[in-house]
Amino acid sequence: MSTTGNHTIRFFKGEQIPVELHKVRMVQKLNLKPIDERLKAIEEGGHNTFLLKTEDIFLDMLTDSGVNAMSDNQVSSMLRADDAYSGSQSFYRMEAALRDVFGKEHILPAHQGRAAENIISKVFIKEGDIIPTNYHFTTTKAHMELNGGKVVEIFGDEALVIKSDYPFKGNIDVKKFEQLIEKYGADRIPFIRLEASTNLIGGQPFSIANMREVKKVADKHKIMIVLDASLIGENAWFIKQREEEFANHSIQDILLTMCKFADLVYFSSRKVTSTRGGGLCTDDKEIYMKLRDLIPLYEGFLTYGGMSVREIEAMAIGLYETTDETVISQSPAFIKYAVDELDQAGIPVVTPAGALGCHVDAMNFLSHVPQEEYPAGALASALFIISGCRGMERGTISSERDEKGNDILADMELLRLAFPRRVFTLSQTKFVIDRLLWLYENRELVGGLKFVEEPPVLRFFLGRLTATSDWPVKLVEKFKADFGDSL
Ligand code: F0G
Repeated sequence: MSTTGNHTIRFFKGEQIPVELHKVRMVQKLNLKPIDERLKAIEEGGHNTFLLKTEDIFLDMLTDSGVNAMSDNQVSSMLRADDAYSGSQSFYRMEAALRDVFGKEHILPAHQGRAAENIISKVFIKEGDIIPTNYHFTTTKAHMELNGGKVVEIFGDEALVIKSDYPFKGNIDVKKFEQLIEKYGADRIPFIRLEASTNLIGGQPFSIANMREVKKVADKHKIMIVLDASLIGENAWFIKQREEEFANHSIQDILLTMCKFADLVYFSSRKVTSTRGGGLCTDDKEIYMKLRDLIPLYEGFLTYGGMSVREIEAMAIGLYETTDETVISQSPAFIKYAVDELDQAGIPVVTPAGALGCHVDAMNFLSHVPQEEYPAGALASALFIISGCRGMERGTISSERDEKGNDILADMELLRLAFPRRVFTLSQTKFVIDRLLWLYENRELVGGLKFVEEPPVLRFFLGRLTATSDWPVKLVEKFKADFGDSL
């Protein structure tokens, strides 16, 4: 019996749990260091989980990017990689896979997703342009704004509701799209960007019905549709689960249908195929030609684009695996398990469970910490201290400052706990749930953070913060008292 894909199995006594449909054939040893060492590590890392070293981390739930487990077929394909500066056979195998899986004719490589965003922004955005999107992504927005564009989010009413059963929170509000065109004129809108499994609002998908509506308006005003396909496999999976019309369609079919709506598809292969790299694809020769000339300048020659040929081989296999329900449903099944357990325990999490990770609502979890003191960052730091689990702040630290130097407070303060594909087991999942339960009971002990070093762009990557009081020490004392040991 299956509910969230074939990973969730009903046991004899009625319990339903996700079961791993793979076996482990290579392992990496993990460290669960004592809590005093974890405290020292996070202080040295400026309470920024990006600045931690993996030797200090137990479960690395920072991201799924570049850290999904590869399949045996992907690893073995790397052996036949064709080393060549140009004309490599490996590239042509990847090109064929992209044509099959995304259904687009013209393919360009890029070393990762943001590299594709750089090229798209340089080619299509001019000063004063408006770029509508369902929701921004950090690197996307940075590139678009560097090129003079302004990103405008046109999500629906349900998108930011934390506790919801709305199936497609990633949908575009088509009325807002029309109003934007009316206000600025289609000439100032070079394209509309749709992000599959919308990352920053909790990995939430959009529907094909919504794509159809967007396409009608975009066509009427001759506005190009750009699809960020970094998390397209999971979005397709949710469409199969949640959009009745597609319940009996194959994932391959849904992927092709989604890509057909877009004039240009780009992706981070670090997410979509469990490798590194990225790319751009289109059926439109004119779009292709405009993008093409910047690839050798920024990425490398057209048949490697900044990637190693080994990665390119694994990417080709990974693309075909994205059409396999067993592969793409694994992470959503484990995320749903974690979200359901936390939700039932009264811990505020984004629902319905989405792609990429379990998203804890730090604004509610730490309701006593003002947003100016970065509750999501504080929660990420506190969870690391008490568990060795590394999550990622997705809130105001991941935002920026306005012209006056004030923080632009984020719509949501989320602690993201990523579930890279096929990396963690159920007992590890239970461990992180258990530590969150303890932290919730002791949440009053957690205080805020403030910046001590703040880069001007994408400050969340390299910024350093400090605790606003000695709350980390108090938290450690309570942990030791409750658990009777320091692990
Ligand atoms: N678009 C989306 C939706 C993403 O989630 C990412 C990366 C990118 C573009 C950029 O791709 O990293 O290959 O340059 N997301 C990662 C994350 C970093 O952790 O969510 P990239």
